[in-house]
This record gives sequence, C-alpha cells and structure tokens, in this order.
Amino acid sequence: MSYKIAIDGPSSAGKSTIAKMLAKELGYVYIDTGAMYRAIGFYLIENKIDIHDENKVVSVLNNIDVTLDYDDENNLHVFLNGKDISNKIRTQEVGEAASVCSQYLKVREKLVSLQRKLAEEKSCCMDGRDIASNVLPNANLKLYVSASDECRAKRRYLEEKEKGIDTTVDKVLEELKARDYRDTHREHNPLTRVSDAIDIDTTDKTSDEVVDDILKRFF
Ligand code: DC
Repeated sequence: MSYKIAIDGPSSAGKSTIAKMLAKELGYVYIDTGAMYRAIGFYLIENKIDIHDENKVVSVLNNIDVTLDYDDENNLHVFLNGKDISNKIRTQEVGEAASVCSQYLKVREKLVSLQRKLAEEKSCCMDGRDIASNVLPNANLKLYVSASDECRAKRRYLEEKEKGIDTTVDKVLEELKARDYRDTHREHNPLTRVSDAIDIDTTDKTSDEVVDDILKRFF
C-alpha cells in the first residue's frame, strides 16, 4: 500500500527542503507542486503574457505541458514543453508570477489533476499550499510547516544574496507578506491549515533537526 505525506505552509518556511529530505530517507517520490505553478509562471513571462489577465492566461493553457522527472541521483527536474527549466524558476519574478496565476481556477484544475496522477499508487511526499486540503485529502500524514516571518525573510534574503541579488531583509519580508496574503486569501484552494495537520515550526532549527524529529515521531 502506498503512503502519502502532504506538506503545506507559506513561502520559505522550509517545506521543500524537509519534503525532499523525508522522501530521500523514506525512499518515496518527492513532488514539488510549487515548481509546477512556477513552470506556468515562467511560460507566461517568457511569452510576454499579462499574468493579471485571467482570460489570456487561460487561453494559452493548452500550449503548456508541465512534467516532472528524476535524474540518477533522484533529484527532481521540471520540464516545460520538454525543456528542463529547473534552474530558471527559482527567482522572485517567477515566484510572483506563479502566485498570481495560481489564483485562476483553470490553472489549478490543470495542475491538480496532474499532481493526483503523479501521486497515484506511489508512496510520495508532496509539498505545496493545498495538498492536505485539496490535492491529497486522504494523505496518511499531514504536516503544516511554518516559521516566524523574521526567520523566513532572513532565509530568503541569504538565498538571494548567494545568487548575487541585491536586496534587503525588509524588502524580502514585504514581498513574503504580499505573497502570503495572496496565497491565503484567493478564492480557490487557498493555503490553509487543515484540522488534522501536525504543526512543524522550523524557526531557528536546522533541516536535519526537523527531519530527525519527524522521523522519530511518525516512522
Ligand atoms: O512553493 P513555491 O514558492 O514554489 O510556490 C510558488 C507559488 O505557487 C505560490 O506562491 C503559490 C502557488 N502554489 C499554489 O497555489 N499551490 C500549490 N500547491 C503550490 C504552489
């Protein structure tokens, strides 16, 4: 029987690091749903499509094919129309476009059906915003991963600095708050903590500490 772990939470709380590490430890498949929304955001930017024009975005959805695949070391790669775009989607601009277009019902329907298909018959660890509440409501383990605003902003700031991006912790915090607001207030499947989720607070903890704790408690 397959085992499903659903991981939800706001940006930069540490969801994907934890999901990836748990999947590796347990020999499960890792499914990064944010990367799929980012792939659509990337397409819209590349093709100069106004991300705020829902009708226009919906009209090009049939031209967008998003797939996930794994290399020999089991690292996840995201493909847009057959092209590996994994190292092009981790930017503030693409994250923003993903957050905006993820509000549209047709975008969500397209990706949610793909996400459910990917999770079929496989033990998996899937992270995102609506996994426990919508994509995999019968998941065996539901984790809600969070961290203080300051901690998330600091993490994101250090990531951006490493990439050579000139920003400040305050600016990053403002962007995070705007994204949190949009992701929690949208009409369709907003980020929410389901009542049977286990809270995982990653503030001031290393990913090893968090993952060890989860493995000890639930496996
Ligand atoms: O987790 P991330 O930062 O890569 O996600 C980018 C955006 O995609 C996020 O701001 C909202 C959207 N998203 C979503 O609506 N539902 C998901 N399951 C995952 C991501």
